Amino acid sequence: MADSTHVVLTDSDNAKTSSLPVLRGSLGTPALDIGKLYKDTGYFTYDPGFVSTASCRSAITYIDGDEGVLLYRGYPIEQLAEKSSFLEVAYLLMNGELPSKAQFASFEHEVTHHTMMHEAFRTFLYGFRHDAHPMAMLTGMLGSLASFYHNELDLEDPEQRRLAAIRLIAKVPTIAAACYRYSIGWPIRYPRNNLEYTTRFLHMMKEVPSEPLNLPPIASKAMDLLFILHADHEQNASTSTVRLVGSTGANPYVSVAAGVAALWGPAHGGANEAVLKMLAEIGDVKNVQSAVDRAKNKESGFRLMGFGHRVYKNFDPRARIIREMTHKVLGELGVDDPLLEVAMRLEEAALKDDYFVQRKLYPNVDFYSGIIYKALGIPTEMFTVMFAIARTAGWVAHWLEQQNDPENKIGRPRQIYTGATPRDYVAFDARG
Ligand code: SDX
Repeated sequence: MADSTHVVLTDSDNAKTSSLPVLRGSLGTPALDIGKLYKDTGYFTYDPGFVSTASCRSAITYIDGDEGVLLYRGYPIEQLAEKSSFLEVAYLLMNGELPSKAQFASFEHEVTHHTMMHEAFRTFLYGFRHDAHPMAMLTGMLGSLASFYHNELDLEDPEQRRLAAIRLIAKVPTIAAACYRYSIGWPIRYPRNNLEYTTRFLHMMKEVPSEPLNLPPIASKAMDLLFILHADHEQNASTSTVRLVGSTGANPYVSVAAGVAALWGPAHGGANEAVLKMLAEIGDVKNVQSAVDRAKNKESGFRLMGFGHRVYKNFDPRARIIREMTHKVLGELGVDDPLLEVAMRLEEAALKDDYFVQRKLYPNVDFYSGIIYKALGIPTEMFTVMFAIARTAGWVAHWLEQQNDPENKIGRPRQIYTGATPRDYVAFDARG
């Protein structure tokens, strides 16, 4: 397969053939260009969930699921986790290269000075029920951003595209923190420009007017690491959603709002919230084996949340890094969380169990992250919001890449129709 340039498909019934070009990237699995398949053979392809389907070419993130490799613009996630910062990773994802000192300073200054929300946002925010799920609020609030910038949405103008990306990266933490504070009846805090990105967000989340916030340095370090690890992940469901909405020419604010909506699902970004609920339900290490047994029984409908991945058939490299940080955070904060013990025993039991081994089901990015969020005092309902703040960097990078992609066209899949064949209308009195 190393040198094949085409794969020929032949219909054994009528000898119709289609010669499908082989497309290769710089790394990873080659793809067959099936653009001519329908014209040549009269067949569609069928791939629910797009398990074997590449939707685009992208230079942003590379994953090798078998080896457990994750690269952002070619840089291994382990090196970025150790040496970079989330804001620098956001720059890298958007621009393709690590910034010079001057480039980073200018990027940071620009993001810092776009963190404020229009005051009318409060009215909109205060219209939600106070107990609305923060992901419901975030989805609505991000979509409404388009209503504040409708005179700067000329998507033909690269500067307006870039500015929209900066505004999203800058404002999502402010909006996320505002949603949280509204839900607990606290006044909204304005972003403080003298703080760096992640520390600024934690202050907006947790600072109360009556006293200064005493934020242990490990809190910002752990949150910034989690933001780095969640920043992008090639064509996952929410990023593919952003691209599909973006492919219609819709503006980046509503495209990212659609991504937030997709992320909310428990099969995707909502899994971190579901993991904590599952660990709490298991409650004690003595119930671990029965949980593993339940997850193996299809009739139960129960899955081990935080386990398995469409692409990783090895350890999710992010899970390894988060697991290490979990022990550090709990140690430094002096938190003794029994759920961590449950999580570690669950991981141990599952990794030894044939059902999980055969299906290559390993802990994914969501398995441990919730334990860190909990130790940092982030409420469970806000876990997926944390994921959304980080993934905004990836979503805007993919949206920008798509806008410059000469192959970009409106996403419009076909189907296998299984409905009624043509039939005539039947009047009421003849319907029995
Ligand atoms: C994220 O795409 C991304 O990159 C996502 C993400 C990102 O950064 O954007 O990495 C973030 O979404 C991580 C995944 C978080 N979700 C969960 O932890 C929810 C629990 N896991 C799953 O439901 C599942 O593993 C998925 C959704 C993650 C992957 O599903 P697939 O690839 O469609 O696999 P599948 O549902 O076809 O499962 C294959 C088999 C099935 O058994 P068989 O039919 O072969 O007998 O594995 C079983 C499944 O029943 N299985 C599980 C399981 N996950 C899959 N069984 C028990 N527990 C699980 N968690």
